[in-house]
Amino acid sequence: MTTIKICVLGGTGFVGQSIASRLSQMGHEVHIISRHRERHRRLLVIPTVKLIEGDPHDMGLLRTLFQDVDAVINLVGILNEKGRDGKGFEHAHYELANKVVQACTQTKVKRLLHMSALHADEAGPSHYLRSKGRAEKRVHQVSSHDINVTSFRPSVIFGPGDSFLNRFADLLRRLPFVFPLACPKSRFQPVYVDNVAQVFCDALGSHETYGQTYNLCGPRTYTLQELVEYVAKLTGTKRYVYGLNDWQSWTQAAAVEWSAWLPWVKEKPFSLDNYRSLSVDSVCPDGHKLPLGITADALEDIAPGYLLPKPDPLITLRRHAGRG
Ligand SMILES: NC(=O)c1ccc[n+]([C@@H]2O[C@H](COP(=O)([O-])OP(=O)(O)OC[C@H]3O[C@@H](n4cnc5c(N)ncnc54)[C@H](OP(=O)(O)O)[C@@H]3O)[C@@H](O)[C@H]2O)c1
Repeated sequence: MTTIKICVLGGTGFVGQSIASRLSQMGHEVHIISRHRERHRRLLVIPTVKLIEGDPHDMGLLRTLFQDVDAVINLVGILNEKGRDGKGFEHAHYELANKVVQACTQTKVKRLLHMSALHADEAGPSHYLRSKGRAEKRVHQVSSHDINVTSFRPSVIFGPGDSFLNRFADLLRRLPFVFPLACPKSRFQPVYVDNVAQVFCDALGSHETYGQTYNLCGPRTYTLQELVEYVAKLTGTKRYVYGLNDWQSWTQAAAVEWSAWLPWVKEKPFSLDNYRSLSVDSVCPDGHKLPLGITADALEDIAPGYLLPKPDPLITLRRHAGRG
């Protein structure tokens, strides 16, 4: 594939950074739009990456930036909104996707990769899944000879810097003795962030992916309880993981949701919308195949590399010096 210019929305996030590094390694020019350029300055060390300060919802900015790009990747997504009425999800998922397709059409961008979520569905049980479903439907409405769209629906994504396994590792450390876990029987098929990035990068130039939607899952299915117990074992945190029943899970979600109104709480770590999303197992109906012949890495091969406690460098040094 020849070198191309790609504009990435949401490129400063967990998945975006992986995709940007890989695109850069392939020699492509990557333009990332961020609302907080200064916070993500470290991305500038990646060769061929340019960080542009701006709000992706600004149509004028999108039209200007899309003017001479070969492809657009939209990764913008939120897991929780500030309010409770779904408007935040609608804004971040559907309204932005709509603006992206309009700007792509107006500037004649030929290729669009869109990040959705597994079981995104206009009739889904949560604002998250419904808004993701509407966004996915919208981008495929313009899929044609003029603009080739591909969308991706991952289960939960893991890897260094994830906010899934790392979050549980952190919560387990904070709560003494017993860890009360909501929705313990919810099932996931976690997929490695590097595999997701490879799928996106390989799909860019692959004609067979035009107009397609792909589920992205890892090789194994786990319940949430199994995953949290695995994280506890890996991190050496001895806690009893107590699986809450359905009404206890709802109560925990409601309590956390309402506590987010307190002025010192910055974000909701769990919400009633998350609780509703968890009523649908995040498992691929079509097994664990990734597209384009890519093999999915196993969680057990990757997670120890970033979850295992790192030895204190000072202690290691003392040991090497024979003083430990
Ligand atoms: N991580 C997972 O397990 C998972 C699973 C399924 C689907 N997905 C989807 O994959 C995509 C990437 O996920 P991620 O984990 O990389 O997310 P992330 O780390 O939270 O990054 C998302 C990026 O989107 C931008 N963004 C967030 N809210 C925005 C808003 N309201 N308007 C404009 N920009 C906004 C932010 O960029 P700036 O702050 O720099 O502007 C942020 O860096 C999302 O669409 C997500 O729904 C993720």
